[in-house]
Amino acid sequence: MLSVFYHPYTNMRYVFVFNRFFLCAPLLFSVFCGQAQNSKVANIDSKVEGLLSKMTLDEKIGQLNQVVGDIATGTDVKRDNLIEGVRDGSIGSILSHFNFENKIKLQRIAVKESRLGIPLLFGADVIHGYKTIFPIPLAQAASWDMDLIERIERIASTEAAADGQNWTFAPMVDISRDPRWGRVMEGAGEDTYLGSRIAVARVKGIQGSDLSDPTTLAACVKHYAGYGFSEAGRDYNITDISEQRLRETVLPPFQAAAKAGAATFMNGFNALNGTPASMNKHLITDILRGEWGWKGMIVSDWNSFGETITHGAAEDETDASAKCLSAGSDMDMVGGVYQKGLKKALDAGRIQQAQIDEAVRRVLRLKYALGLFDDPFRYLNERRRRETLEQPDYRTAAREAAAASMVLLKNNNDVLPLQAGGKVKKIALIGPYLDRRATKDYLSFWTVCIGDVRAYDPGKIITPAQALKPALEAMGFEVTLTPVCPDVECGSEEDIIKTMQATRDADVAIIFVGERGDDCGESRSVSNIALPRNQEHLIKVAANTKKPVIMVLFNSRPMVFPVAKEKAEAILMAWQPGFETGNALADVLTGKVSPSGKLPMTMPLNMGQIPIYYNGYNTGRPRTAPGQMWTSGYLDAPNEPAWPFGFGLSYTTFSYSPIHLNKTSLQKGETLEATVLVTNKGNRAASEVVQCYVRDLTADVTRPLRELKGFEKIKLAPGEYRNVTFKLTAADLAYWNQDLQFKSDPGKFQLFIGGNSQDTQTAAFELK
Ligand code: NOJ
Repeated sequence: MLSVFYHPYTNMRYVFVFNRFFLCAPLLFSVFCGQAQNSKVANIDSKVEGLLSKMTLDEKIGQLNQVVGDIATGTDVKRDNLIEGVRDGSIGSILSHFNFENKIKLQRIAVKESRLGIPLLFGADVIHGYKTIFPIPLAQAASWDMDLIERIERIASTEAAADGQNWTFAPMVDISRDPRWGRVMEGAGEDTYLGSRIAVARVKGIQGSDLSDPTTLAACVKHYAGYGFSEAGRDYNITDISEQRLRETVLPPFQAAAKAGAATFMNGFNALNGTPASMNKHLITDILRGEWGWKGMIVSDWNSFGETITHGAAEDETDASAKCLSAGSDMDMVGGVYQKGLKKALDAGRIQQAQIDEAVRRVLRLKYALGLFDDPFRYLNERRRRETLEQPDYRTAAREAAAASMVLLKNNNDVLPLQAGGKVKKIALIGPYLDRRATKDYLSFWTVCIGDVRAYDPGKIITPAQALKPALEAMGFEVTLTPVCPDVECGSEEDIIKTMQATRDADVAIIFVGERGDDCGESRSVSNIALPRNQEHLIKVAANTKKPVIMVLFNSRPMVFPVAKEKAEAILMAWQPGFETGNALADVLTGKVSPSGKLPMTMPLNMGQIPIYYNGYNTGRPRTAPGQMWTSGYLDAPNEPAWPFGFGLSYTTFSYSPIHLNKTSLQKGETLEATVLVTNKGNRAASEVVQCYVRDLTADVTRPLRELKGFEKIKLAPGEYRNVTFKLTAADLAYWNQDLQFKSDPGKFQLFIGGNSQDTQTAAFELK
């Protein structure tokens, strides 16, 4: 058994070997790497100390100051004079600066004209691609494919690094159970285990194996912590999370990312249990740096130091500076709070010089680790930029990712995939999202709102109409195109009549509906997650013609659409798929790719069920029958969701054998092996995400009904079968008990394996 710890800046592995039978060659290698690494770190540390000793207080505070470049995503922060600030050493980093030549100019001023020649860090939000746009992160999570996610991040980082960025504000690892929150699109969904695995894949993709490789970026894990639990799904709202839930549900993806070597973290905007995250000593100093031993740098979110004043938790910039620095926050994003308040806080004795030095050290260490002191222009090479951006194979990966993310929610009578040579001859393609080629509605907030400066040309997006018409015609279908509701407002009689007629004239109608790119992301919370703008009505009128209707949904969050759920023959959730939208849809709808996406968030039946998540609790009065009184439930709705976490259909069916356990009584130090035989029963090759859940039946505190503990995505040819084994030890069964100790304890457990969180095989075992 190996335990691997990654150093944040070098990403070099330190391997501890617990198994005495483990071969010693890798051990020697790792020890050697560890030593080489120690000397690399020591080398950086001595350079940092040398530089620090030459710096004035103003220059130190300058290194903690990050200003916005040529775009602004906020409204309340004045632009600083960039050139002057870089020259006088009062700016250490610039974010959201997309003009390449300007970056060279600014870096030149930093290294040639500032007194100490300290290079700048350039940070950017590389959320689901840089120049080549991939599906939104929540969609990627639906692929449950860690290699794919890592590959995408690698491409995005390679592009961003070639364009002069050296730091990305990603991954966002906030767990969220509230689809009203607009930012669920940026995360990995509701589950901590899946979220932790994805956090690690993203960090690896972003940072590669070595930060000093100029094709990698420093990752920034955000938003630390609890932001995804914003009360009522309202962005920036307060969060109130018990210590147990914080540690069990919210923090593990952060911890996993820290362990994977993530170089930086970002504070959340939220106040957590009363204390704004930027000045939350418990989070930063006690847990992140203390318990987890993480050594990286932490940056505020956009003016979040300043917002401690608005929260009412700090009096002015001096107070805010003292509180944020003392809590352990290092760099001030955009707010200029440290510029105004840090020196005053020092003069007033609220903070010590040593605390400022420590924060500056962390910034300088990162700059050294990125290799910026060796070559400040290593990310600013025009030739590399030309040769790297927007390569054709990136589009191939974008297509693969978009197809792998799509979730098939319903497929009555196997209406999908569309097959030539049968009864269906004529297909009507209809809907507001059929061909929005002049918009960026197949992308997201990050590419719609702030994408302009990155020169996204809507012409780069392949729309459903562009790809599907030729693909279906090539198969011999007759295809009609009926774009309706030009402004995505589907109330007009004309839109309804067109939809009805087009459906009536065809054998099958595919209706493309959803959210606009601008409907999701930061500051885009909604109080109503119903399919907006009367679009469900289109499905209803089309279905009333009695022709089969296939609904393709472009969404950034779980939504409710009860009428469409009932009336549509098939429902394919496509998310916001990115540049390759149309091609990926063609692949899935025609059966070239069998859908394999599984929901990373529960789809509620109605809005009143929110927050709804699969790993809820039994309560003292569980409801076991519909409408049962005096039990935990609703008078007017069931507790069950529309579709559960982990759900997604395929064009084939997979059978699961009963679970075989290697033992039913597990001692500490032993490994439980749970095996199922999964068989592809259909006639198409397809992938399945085999999921393993556990329930602790008798613990010290109440434990979730099911908790994801493992998964494996496998591909099976028709008729092929494979054994899938999950291994669990006592450590995997640990939880935070009443005394806030992370421990497993003896007792009875249930184990579930299946293709989603509800339809599973069950076995029982005991921990001794
Ligand atoms: C505010 C967002 O909350 C954060 O995620 C982002 O990285 C920064 N703005 C910078 O754009």
